[in-house]
Amino acid sequence: MGGLFIVMVGLPARGKSTVASKLREGLESEGLNVDIFNNGILRREMLGHDSSAPSFYDPQNQDGRARREELARINIKRARAFLEAEGDVAVLDATNASRGRRAMIEEFARGLPILYVECCNDDPDLLEASVQRKTRLPEFSNLTPAEAEQSFNKRIEYYKSIYAELESESCFLRVDTLNNRILKERLGYKIPHYIRIRDILVSDWVRNLYLVRHGETVYNVEGRIGGDAPLTEKGLAQANALGRHFSNLVIPYIFTSTRQRSAQTAAPVLAGQERQGFSPTRIALPEFDEIDAGVCESMRYDEIRSRMPEVFDARSHDKYNYEYPEGEGYITLKARVDRGLKKALFLSGNAPAIMIVGHQAINRMILSHFLYRRTEDVPYIYIPQDQYFHIVSTQKKKLFELVRFTGKLTF
Ligand code: F6P
Repeated sequence: MGGLFIVMVGLPARGKSTVASKLREGLESEGLNVDIFNNGILRREMLGHDSSAPSFYDPQNQDGRARREELARINIKRARAFLEAEGDVAVLDATNASRGRRAMIEEFARGLPILYVECCNDDPDLLEASVQRKTRLPEFSNLTPAEAEQSFNKRIEYYKSIYAELESESCFLRVDTLNNRILKERLGYKIPHYIRIRDILVSDWVRNLYLVRHGETVYNVEGRIGGDAPLTEKGLAQANALGRHFSNLVIPYIFTSTRQRSAQTAAPVLAGQERQGFSPTRIALPEFDEIDAGVCESMRYDEIRSRMPEVFDARSHDKYNYEYPEGEGYITLKARVDRGLKKALFLSGNAPAIMIVGHQAINRMILSHFLYRRTEDVPYIYIPQDQYFHIVSTQKKKLFELVRFTGKLTF
């Protein structure tokens, strides 16, 4: 009998399940038979609400501890049976936080290879957002959002108190799940499919990204830059057309900037999703706010040219590297947009589709991840307001298309 155990390790809300499903998708595309054994799902099935209170996770709570051990044993046995039958790779998706738990897994694995994959991410912003996402789980439905957050954070504290990072285990990969980077690895013996697994872990996984620019604004009509102007009538019609266009598709996560033009554009899409009976999550990320034009905010390009010719000329000469006085340039935008995109991908986890409603410069920077362009050409990428970019980038599939969502609008 062959087979491999991949054992996830990590505190709650560190992206373990997302990584587990990436592994499954990537390995299945190699023709391997993969299954995930998730202790949280099993716990909710078997114990329901009884297991959602923080005290259930208190290491001093003998009963809670015994029940959690029992759930872990059930899943390990199921995983072992899967490998003994037809399975190639069994992924144990749980915190597996203590050495004791890992020793138990090794005992049940009885000599089959084990690769531990430890998921780390201590970014406070992301953790907060991840915890908020978790509090939407049905197991917290009897609590207010604040109570649920408190309860989940307490649970994390209990796990922290028993957490032992990977150190003495023979084969492991420690992964920064925000940046998809390997932080540490050890390969004490041969692990089947190791190179493939490693490669999956470092790949960005974009199932379906719909990248939209906000609809026409009052400022767009006046030729002014930046600011926080609302949509025009035409912009609202574009947003409605967008909502209609996506009314038959499920988009569980919609990311906007903090500007009203972005929120207004997303609103009909959200409403359309709700009409279908879905409850998408909208997250406004400041990382997606339009380039800050500093002293030029709210000005027209022709005003900049006449009143600040040195700014206009310098920017025209090297648009990518030029930074507006007291503002940003494309070059400085890169770090924050990268961070926004990583955040969006992390927070949307395994979602089959996400939408980002961004701005002209922001969308250019996002596109530069997927589209080969010399940096000097990035600030000139075409970003229309009546079409969106549909992007898929997994190990199996790459897709990049510009899709029109409005007929001709007559204004
Ligand atoms: O004009 C709309 C806008 O989104 C402005 O707010 C922003 O300053 C500009 O586009 C960015 O485009 P460019 O870098 O071409 O000036």
